Amino acid sequence: MNLDSIKVLQKELSDLIGVSGYEDEVGNFILSIIEKEGLADKAWKDPLGNILVIIQGTKESERVLFDAHTDEIGFMVSHIDQKGFLRFVPVGGWDTRILLGQTIVIPTDSGENFHGIIGSNPPHLTSPSERKKTVSIDQMYIDIGLNSKEQVEASNISVGSVGTLVSPFVDFPNNMVRGKAFDDRTGCNVLIHLLRELKDINSQNETLLFNFAVQEEFDRIGTVTGAFKLNPTLAIAVENTTAADVPNIKPSKIPVYIGKGPAISVADKSIISSPHVNKRLIENAKIGNIPYQIKKPMYGKTDAGKIQMTREGVKSTVVSVPCRYIHSPTSLLKLDDISNTIELLKAFIENEAKI
Ligand code: CO
Repeated sequence: MNLDSIKVLQKELSDLIGVSGYEDEVGNFILSIIEKEGLADKAWKDPLGNILVIIQGTKESERVLFDAHTDEIGFMVSHIDQKGFLRFVPVGGWDTRILLGQTIVIPTDSGENFHGIIGSNPPHLTSPSERKKTVSIDQMYIDIGLNSKEQVEASNISVGSVGTLVSPFVDFPNNMVRGKAFDDRTGCNVLIHLLRELKDINSQNETLLFNFAVQEEFDRIGTVTGAFKLNPTLAIAVENTTAADVPNIKPSKIPVYIGKGPAISVADKSIISSPHVNKRLIENAKIGNIPYQIKKPMYGKTDAGKIQMTREGVKSTVVSVPCRYIHSPTSLLKLDDISNTIELLKAFIENEAKI
């Protein structure tokens, strides 16, 4: 697998802004690649903004769904004060300890992006005991350099405007990269590369379905409507998950490791994964000599937890690319893990293990 192609697409996807409910930039980008490269029999955007894709197999009744979410966590403006400062609420689960001093970008309808700084009481004006406490998000504000409510409103920023933290994409040693929104643009990257790989597969009987799903970070919304429409019989959610292989964490508490390949979930807080689907993944990984790891239970919720409850039920699991520091502006992952995740899903489709 070509790591350069994986890196280029990871940067492009990471740099796009798509806070939950506002994923059009990401969805349109993905749909344009699929259309331009002719990667699907059918691809379209549904009413909520999911990008749904069908690759017809010889068997219409055996339908395998791959799902990755297009949205990222962000912020929503909740109040504009007379001096032009913005108050905000989180969209999705942020580690609020890391917010102070960060730069936020707020796109507007006019196409202009505004930048703001997340501030709170200056350290010089707080007492030593106050400085030891965590600052709650209620005490924070965004300073966008405008000095009245009228100026803010004239700039197309209003209550309900959304933004996310600025975080450039940077190369690290050992094929590692850092950037924002790796949760779950990484899954989108995996699925786009998988679609490209499928051009070379002739022996695929199952009908393949893809949902590039909206609003996972809100309450896993797009996955529900997408799965209903696509009507799968098996499903794999492709995610980015917490590699806590860092100092101060005991091995028994480390869910997954960087560099050890795709992580197959046995269970998370939303699903007991299908043993049948996991067996098909593991046996095909062994045949293809593809590295994989088992993610320790039970951390996080995933789209798979919703997909399994579609119609009369869908055997489902989760395959994740390990990533450090998710739900912060600076995630770190290893490109080889993305490459091996693509290989694993391709082997799953080819299913030489005949499971
Ligand atoms: Co995610």
